[in-house]
Amino acid sequence: SEWDLKILCMGAGYVGGPTMAVIAKQCPKIRVVVGDISQKQIDGWNSDNLPIYEPGLLEVVKEARGRNLFFSTDLDKEIQEADIVFISVNTPTKTSGIGAGRAANIKNCELCARQIAKVAKSDKIVVEKSTVPVRTASAIQRILKSNENGNSFQVLSNPEFLAEGTAITDLMNPDRVLIGGQQTPEGLKAAETLASVYANWIPREQILTTNLWSSELSKLVANAFLAQRVSSINSISALCESTGADVSEISRAVGMDDRIGKRFLQSSVGFGGSCFQKDILNLVYLCETYGLQECADYWRGVINMNDFQKRRFSEKVVAAMFNTVTGKKISILGYAFKKDTGDVRETPSMFVVRDLLQEGAKLHIYDPQVSREDMWSEMSYTCGVNHDNTPRLDESVTTEDDVYKTCEGSHGVCILTEWDEFKTLDFKKIYDSMAKPAFFFDGRLICDHKALREIGFEVYAIGKPDPNKFSGV
Ligand code: NAD
Ligand code: UDX
Repeated sequence: SEWDLKILCMGAGYVGGPTMAVIAKQCPKIRVVVGDISQKQIDGWNSDNLPIYEPGLLEVVKEARGRNLFFSTDLDKEIQEADIVFISVNTPTKTSGIGAGRAANIKNCELCARQIAKVAKSDKIVVEKSTVPVRTASAIQRILKSNENGNSFQVLSNPEFLAEGTAITDLMNPDRVLIGGQQTPEGLKAAETLASVYANWIPREQILTTNLWSSELSKLVANAFLAQRVSSINSISALCESTGADVSEISRAVGMDDRIGKRFLQSSVGFGGSCFQKDILNLVYLCETYGLQECADYWRGVINMNDFQKRRFSEKVVAAMFNTVTGKKISILGYAFKKDTGDVRETPSMFVVRDLLQEGAKLHIYDPQVSREDMWSEMSYTCGVNHDNTPRLDESVTTEDDVYKTCEGSHGVCILTEWDEFKTLDFKKIYDSMAKPAFFFDGRLICDHKALREIGFEVYAIGKPDPNKFSGV
């Protein structure tokens, strides 16, 4: 064959698409196919209007697509062709049945394994790229054994650590690549095959190999630790608002201790995204399953703090605006769960929108990357707010393409995503167009509050001394 190796990735989402595009870019002699059951998703990947927004992604895709990178819905054929099959499908929190609201649903992973078992005609390495509960590899291995052609399969765990908004740089230059495999000669050989793919651009000492269970569990632990830092600093933000301390000063002072480190200490309206909450809940459920209730409660606390932080923000808005926002226009700047992505899964913005809708506010929302359709579907899926159960939803929420128009005539502005473009808005122009007193709520700590106050805004910011209690700080 003209190829050194053939790879298929099942699942062309936020992880499968960018990860495979980078492998293809870095390994021109490997044939990489990204497959999905969704024709719409694959059509998107085959166009210049990619299904996800990620800085630098289109360039990478364009470089490799048609050369050694292909997108297809013909999964049966591509499974047969491939030497390595990645499973990179979604593993959302279960919404019903045993473990509802906590356990990860690995149904999609199981379906992939069953399809591989059914159609494979040669030996293969099957790689869990999805984030899964520890010990999922043993289930995948048992399903693969049902293959009738007597082929052998090695299951590897290779969790993905990329963050959205920086996927391409994270993939090009990862802190580490983690590969877990069975500690048998065949397992170690399979792990080496996968390691040699990454070694095309990643230094060997950053490619870590472990047993299967450590690899699966490390992914949940890494996300739990990161989210824990955000919840820790957010808990302090509440204390700051009451005491006159400033959370940014605390992050700086605490983070300069090398043992603690600077990153992930940015206080915010709360963490969002498809991973943190889901993966911590997954960990909580695992602890419960193994009878470790104290461990489950410990990690549950990280989520409880995040829920408190989101709720606290909405309550602050209402309290500041004379305890009522009914009929008032409030502008929401930012709907994505962080900057540089159009992803809205579990975005804190949505929870603020939900709370303010319940208070009767009229919301005008602006986000440079999020479509109205995506706002509604996530709102309905996660918050249960939809057109059927919430009359006049369309009248209460307006989405705008122009940020100044969004703010025109509003009583309050809320910054809920840290988009760079929000840092340099003409706030004087915004102030002049608003109802007075003009309220400003910075949920991301990206604006110059002193300058805003000089313009005339009444400014509230996460973790900053409450202006009504502490003047001149
Ligand atoms: P996603 O929803 O963006 O993409 C999943 C894709 O899989 C969808 O396009 C879906 O149509 C497809 N799919 C579902 N069942 C399939 C099947 N049987 N065969 C083929 N395709 C199928 O999800 P994602 O954000 O890419 O996440 C995938 C996994 O990676 C999850 O387990 C997630 O926890 C993990 N992860 C995500 C991130 C992230 O930042 N999004 C980071 C690290 C790990
Ligand atoms: C996360 C992990 O970082 C990544 O390694 C993993 O593979 C997937 O989950 P992601 O959810 O894409 O990545 O974004 P991340 O940058 O971790 O941010 C998650 C949330 O935490 C965002 O809502 C972000 O705004 C918030 N956050 C992050 C803070 O509020 N403060 C911080 O200091 C850092």
